[in-house]
Parts: sequence; C-alpha cells; structure tokens
Amino acid sequence: MSGYVKTGRELVLAGCLAALLAGCGSPDTEPVGAADTVASTNDADIIVVGAGLAGLSAAIDAASGGARVLVIDMNSVFGGHGIQSGGVAFINSTMQEELGYEDDPAVAYADWMEWTVDGHAQWNRFYVENSREMLWDWLTGLGVRFDRIRPSHGNSVPRFHMTHRRGLNLTRPIFLEALRYSNIDFRWNAVADHLTKDGDRVVGVEGLDYRTGSRFALRGETVILATGGFQSNIDMVRANWRDDLPAPGPVYSMSGQNSRGSGHRMAEEAGAALVNLDRQYNGYTIVPDMFGLDEARGYYGGNARSIWVNSAGERFVTELGIDRYVFDAVMRQQPEGHWSIYDFDDKDGFRLNGPHFVSADAVDHEKIQRLAVENPDITQKADTLAELAALIGVPPDSLEATVAHYNALVANGESTDVDGLPPEDTPPVFTIDTPPYYATKLYPMANKSAGGVSIDMRTHALDASGTPVPGLYAAGEITGSAGMNGLNGLDGMFTGPSILTGRVAGRTAAAELAEIAGWEPVEFTRRGADWDMTRPADSSWTPALGPADVQNMLADSRDGYWHFERVHNLVLERGYGCTNCHSERVPFYTALSREDKAMQTQICETCHLAPAGTLPGADVQRTPARVSN
Ligand SMILES: Cc1cc2nc3c(=O)[nH]c(=O)nc-3n(C[C@H](O)[C@H](O)[C@H](O)COP(=O)(O)OP(=O)(O)OC[C@H]3O[C@@H](n4cnc5c(N)ncnc54)[C@H](O)[C@@H]3O)c2cc1C
Ligand code: HEC
Ligand code: HEC
Repeated sequence: MSGYVKTGRELVLAGCLAALLAGCGSPDTEPVGAADTVASTNDADIIVVGAGLAGLSAAIDAASGGARVLVIDMNSVFGGHGIQSGGVAFINSTMQEELGYEDDPAVAYADWMEWTVDGHAQWNRFYVENSREMLWDWLTGLGVRFDRIRPSHGNSVPRFHMTHRRGLNLTRPIFLEALRYSNIDFRWNAVADHLTKDGDRVVGVEGLDYRTGSRFALRGETVILATGGFQSNIDMVRANWRDDLPAPGPVYSMSGQNSRGSGHRMAEEAGAALVNLDRQYNGYTIVPDMFGLDEARGYYGGNARSIWVNSAGERFVTELGIDRYVFDAVMRQQPEGHWSIYDFDDKDGFRLNGPHFVSADAVDHEKIQRLAVENPDITQKADTLAELAALIGVPPDSLEATVAHYNALVANGESTDVDGLPPEDTPPVFTIDTPPYYATKLYPMANKSAGGVSIDMRTHALDASGTPVPGLYAAGEITGSAGMNGLNGLDGMFTGPSILTGRVAGRTAAAELAEIAGWEPVEFTRRGADWDMTRPADSSWTPALGPADVQNMLADSRDGYWHFERVHNLVLERGYGCTNCHSERVPFYTALSREDKAMQTQICETCHLAPAGTLPGADVQRTPARVSN
C-alpha cells in the first residue's frame, strides 16, 4: 500500500465525517448490524441484549444450535464490564494440575457453600462440575491465556486464574469467536428500553438508536437479557441498601458504565421477579472522581501505611482485615464515614486505581500524589494532628490519643489489631509521627450485583411464583451471578458465572426454539481460519483526519459517543498520533464489517491491557482492601 488513494472506504469516510459531527447514520458497507427498518418478519430468532461476557457467550452457543442471533448493545464497543476484569475461577484446570494443586469439584463445592453461606446450591454444584469443560477448555480453546492462580478467600485450593494482562484478553477472544458465525449479527449504540410481547410471550425489544436518534423495534422469538448489574445506578443502590446497616452518606460507583439496571426494569415490567437486590459487593476505600469526568464515579484509593479513624477520631477495625468484616465495620460508620490517617513519611504508600486508570497511570506514583494526596478536594493536610482533626471535624484530643496509642503499640512490637481479627496481609510497620499529617476521606463504592433477575437452572426468567416468563431468559450479572456468591463474594465468580450462564442461556434458548411451530435451524458457516490481523506500517497510510478534527468532534458531548470521547480525550491528553491506532485497516469510522470489527480489537490494548511487566504481583493490584472480585 502506498500513498493516499481514494478507496471506497475513504468515500464512506468523507460522507461520514460531516455526519459524525451531526450524528452519523450507518454507512452500509458489508454491514454486520441489522437493517434500520422495523421489519415485519423476524429480525432474528434470538435477540441478545448486551455484548458483555454473558451476551457474547450466549450468542455463540445459540448460534451453534442453528438460531439466527442478533446482539444489540448501547455501547459502540464489545466487552462490557469484563474488559476490566482480573480473572476467572476454575476447578480442575490443567494449570492447577501443572502447578500441583489438587482440586476436586466436591472440595470446591464444600468450600463455596461454607464461604458464601447461602450461595445458590444447584448453581454452585453446576459450576464446580462444569467449569473445566464449559469454561476452562472452551476459553483456552478460543485462545484465552492465564498467567497464574491466586489464592483467595473461601478456597482451600487456589482457583482464581488471572487472565494474561487482564480482561481484554478474556473478552476479545470470545468476541472474535462470535464474529466468526454467519448467523450472529450485531447492532451497536442501540439501547433497549422495553420488551415487547406477543400474548404472554416475550418476542422482541424496543429502544433508541443513539446514532440516528430514532426508535427501533426488533422482533424475534425469544430475548436473552444480558445487560449486567445495576451498581452504576446509585438511586437503585441506595434503595436496595442492606436493612441491617445505616443508610450511607455519599456512595460512588465503580461499576460498568452501562450497569444501570435497565435490564432489571425491563424484566420486571415483563413479569419477572427481582431477588436479593441488597446483595451488592461494594467497596469501602473509595475517593471521588478527581478528573471532573463523572461526579457519580469513584476510584479505589487508599494507603496501606495508614490507620483509619471514624468521626469520633477512633480506630474501629483492623484496616487490612478480611474484606467481609472490614466492609461491615466501615458501613456501620455511615453516614459520617471514615478517614485514612498517615504522615509525610508514608504518603508514598497511597495507591489509586479504577476505570480511568486503564494503563500505566496506576503505577505513576508522582501523578497519584498530585491527584489524590496533594489535592485538597481529596486529602486534608496539617502540621499537627490537632489541626488535622479540626479540618476533618473529629475531636482533636481523640485523634491525638488514637495516634499516640497506635505509635506505642508499634514501638513495643505489639499487635495493632483493633478487633482481635488478624489482618489479611502482613501490615507494613509504620508510625505516624512525621509532619505534615494527612487525612483522606474514604467512601463506600457500589461495584457488583449478587442478586437480580430470578432464573431457574436453564436461565428462564421466573416470575414471583417461580414460573418461567415465556420467551425470556437472563444471564450474567443481571441475575446476580445466579446467586452463586450468596452473602460473601468469591474471586472470579462474576466473570466465570457470566460466561457459564450465558452459554446455558444460548443453548437452552436455541433448543427451545424447536418447540415453536415451523421453526427450523438455519444453515450457518463458522469462519475457520483466523483473521488476518496484520496492520500496514504507519508510513503506508496518510491519515485523513488529525487532532484538530478530533478536538472538534469532542467539543460537544453526544449520547452514544461516550467511549469515543473518553478514548480521544486520552489521545489528545497523551499526545498519541492517530496512526498509533488507526490505519488503512482500522479506519476512522465506526467499524461495521466483521473484518473491520475484528481488526479494531487490536487497538483496544493501548488502554485496556495492563502494562507488560506490571503484572503479576506488581503493586498496581495492591490497592488496599478492595472487596472480592
Ligand atoms: C474493574 C473491574 C474488575 C472486575 N474484576 C473481576 C474479576 O477479576 N473476576 C470476576 O469474576 N469479576 C470481575 N468483575 C466483574 C465482572 O467483570 C462482571 O460481573 C461481568 O463481566 C459481567 O458480565 P455481563 O456480561 O453479565 O455484564 P456486562 O459486562 O455489564 O455487560 C452488559 C452489556 O450490556 C450493555 N447494556 C446494558 N444495558 C443495556 C440496554 N438497556 N440496552 C443495550 N445494551 C445494554 C452494556 O453496554 C454492556 O456491554 C470486575 C468488574 C470490574 C468493573
Ligand atoms: C489509542 C488509540 C487511538 C488513537 C491514537 C486514535 N484513536 Fe480514533 N479510535 C480509537 C478507538 C478505540 C475507536 C473506536 C471507539 C469507539 O467506538 O468507542 C476510534 C474511533 C475513531 C473514529 C470513529 C468514530 C465513530 O465511532 O464513528 C474517528 C473519527 C477517530 N477515531 C478519529 C481519530 C483521530 C483523528 C485520531 C488522531 C487525532 C485518532 N482517532 C486517534 C482509538 C484511537
Ligand atoms: C485511548 C484509550 C482507550 C482505548 C484505545 C480503548 N478504550 Fe475502552 N475505555 C477507555 C477508558 C478510559 C474507559 C473507562 C471509562 C470510564 O469509566 O471512566 C473505557 C471503558 C471501556 C468499556 C466499558 C467498561 C465498563 O466497565 O463499562 C468497554 C466495554 C471498552 N472500554 C471497550 C473497549 C474496546 C473494545 C476497545 C477497542 C476497540 C477500547 N475500549 C479501546 C479507554 C480506551
């Protein structure tokens, strides 16, 4: 390839650029998506709402069963929440065998039923018995790689397998597999807001196409809801706060961008029951967004070399204790909250992590100091503890006494446990005696749903009496991981169950189509060979657009463009050249063809892979005290 030749693509581009600024209609080159029209015949047999781990897995299994599948997502990109995930729980993986960890479904089942207290027994049994074949073998067969296995709570044998450089490498192979099926279509930037019924049966969805601004109605035979959890909907989080805890002060979200409970609402309207919505895995060492991106969002922030005090200026929990106990203790301090107290010597221990820290940022300690520690919106600082206490509104005498007592314990080499519960990690030895002193207020955070749409073992959405709502299935975090986590979350038991329940939903929905009069499986092809992912060298292509164009496009925020806007704000901020990511093969327009979409998956890694060398074990993951994944 040489020079800048006007190809069909660039003509599309030229037409699209103006449209991009105005809200671009889909250029129709080899489209993957369904037509824009409201069809009178079925648009598909099965409509899957959500292209996260659950929806993509469901689509693949449904397509293998001969169903015509249409996946819609309100995002412009695949992957959902899972793109930022860390790992997956497997029992009897070949990696466990290689590392000499002897595991067994019966042992795993006993471990999990004990830890989760009331985890869903049948689903847990199904998981432990099928994670090898339906998850490990399947995923590794698709090319997913794992780096290591982390020991984690509730497991007598290590089972939390860490994805090679994080979740992009879990979601991408699944997405690429879905692209291979001729009977799976996608429609992006389409937000569903209503399920349609034919008699009793759910047969389709209605919603809004963000890009065109027009409503759409899609008709199928069945719908699989895979819209994720609801923890980015803080009103819903508060409305379902645990009864035995005080109502919280501010709560920040660190959940999926689109985890707003829209699927829950649609399911409920269609007659499905929602269960255990108060089972939410929430975090407790959160600092508010300091980027001005979204005031509802927060970031993991905290200092392992600090003590925590409540509004009385007293310690109330062993800071590095086991998540579930620390969580409850922290939540009992609501609504006043708690502060992390440290001194000048230990301020470098502050860590920050979260969605905006998608890349090397999480290990850029100088930046973290500037953003969190030396930022008066987040952290107060004073030369004496008494002044610090006054700044944060706790009794000065009490804070002084608390710190003096703590320093004395350290000096005498005594245990610093507050509640008799030993810390989870060996705490670093530090004292708080070098001014200036710092206080960072930490907040609760809403993260994951462990309750949701009620389903049976075949993922039928159930009504309050336990009867399936005809035509409706649900999979993934919208079902609260099928209740597998019970009262206490297990690591890797959101990603794994999302894929597993997704696959069950896809299989079941396809198999049950056979009960519909006249339904026949379609002929389909599965693309065998891998995509040719070679990208032409930068020099072979002259970009048609530059930073100024992007600046223009970013001037006004538009619905449906949030990811595009986040990406390109970062591009401008970091001064990346356009050809770092775009090329003749990854052009400047919404990738629509299968080939384009496959190629585009390569450019996600600039931001969504953990930087090489920082994992495993690097302290990018060592933000203290996060609730289990
Ligand atoms: C930072 C982070 C780390 C995590 N780490 C782990 C981990 O290590 N292990 C683990 O087990 N779990 C982890 N999780 C949780 C796990 O990633 C999720 O539970 C899981 O990916 C959920 O998958 P899902 O397909 O059910 O939903 P999602 O991934 O939330 O996908 C839902 C999709 O539906 C779309 N959507 C939503 N509403 C609509 C609508 N109305 N119309 C159209 N589209 C809609 C969304 O855009 C999204 O693409 C982590 C999560 C985060 C955020
Ligand atoms: C770090 C990688 C990266 C760089 C550098 C980059 N982009 Fe992008 N670009 C993307 C991704 C990813 C998408 C798809 C985003 C989405 O759909 O959310 C995209 C999509 C686009 C689109 C299509 C918008 C749409 O969805 O309709 C345009 C136009 C674009 N980029 C222009 C540019 C220009 C101009 C530059 C140089 C100033 C640039 N990009 C630099 C990653 C990048
Ligand atoms: C230039 C950096 C950049 C690139 C390149 C990029 N992203 Fe993102 N992406 C982000 C940021 C930043 C966020 C988090 C936004 C937030 O919540 O603050 C994000 C969020 C997401 C989310 C939402 C996750 C959730 O929990 O809801 C998905 C899905 C996603 N990206 C997919 C992709 C895919 C697929 C690609 C490649 C086609 C891609 N991204 C390329 C920066 C990038």
